[in-house]
Amino acid sequence: MISPKQRIELIQQAIEVRRQAYMPYSGYAVGAALLAKNGEIFTGCNVENAGYSSTICAERTAVVKAVSEGVREFEAIAVVTENAGSPCGGCRQVLYEFAPYMLVIIADTQGHVHDEITLSELLPRGFGPESIA
Ligand code: THU
Repeated sequence: MISPKQRIELIQQAIEVRRQAYMPYSGYAVGAALLAKNGEIFTGCNVENAGYSSTICAERTAVVKAVSEGVREFEAIAVVTENAGSPCGGCRQVLYEFAPYMLVIIADTQGHVHDEITLSELLPRGFGPESIA
C-alpha cells in the first residue's frame, strides 16, 4: 500500500523527469517514477535513438536505474504523458519480471490520474520468472 503522500510525490517526480525526455523523432514525452519497497524513488524518461528500435521507454529507464543500484522490489510506478497514455506492452513485461502486483498510476501532465490499476490487470497471465522455473 502506498500513502497519499507517496502517490502525490510519485506523480510529481514523473512530471518533473518527463522534462528530460529525449524524443526528437516522436515528439511524445514520457516520465516515470518508480517507488521501491524500501521507499526510494527511481525516475526515468524516454530516450529515443536514430536507430528507432534502440529507443528506451521511460518505465524501462526507471527499472534499469533501480536494478543497477541493487534495488529489485517495487511497490508502484507513476507514468505521466500529456494524454495519460498507458504503458506499452514491452514495459508491462519488464515491470512484471520484478513486481507483478505493483500499482500502476497513469496520469497526465496536470497531475490528474486517469487510471490506477495493478500490473497483473494490465498484463493478465503474464510470463514471469516462475514460467521458466
Ligand atoms: N514510450 C514510453 O516511454 N513508454 C511507454 O510505455 C510507451 C512509449 C515512448 C517510446 C517513444 O520514445 C515514444 O514514447 C513514442 O512511442
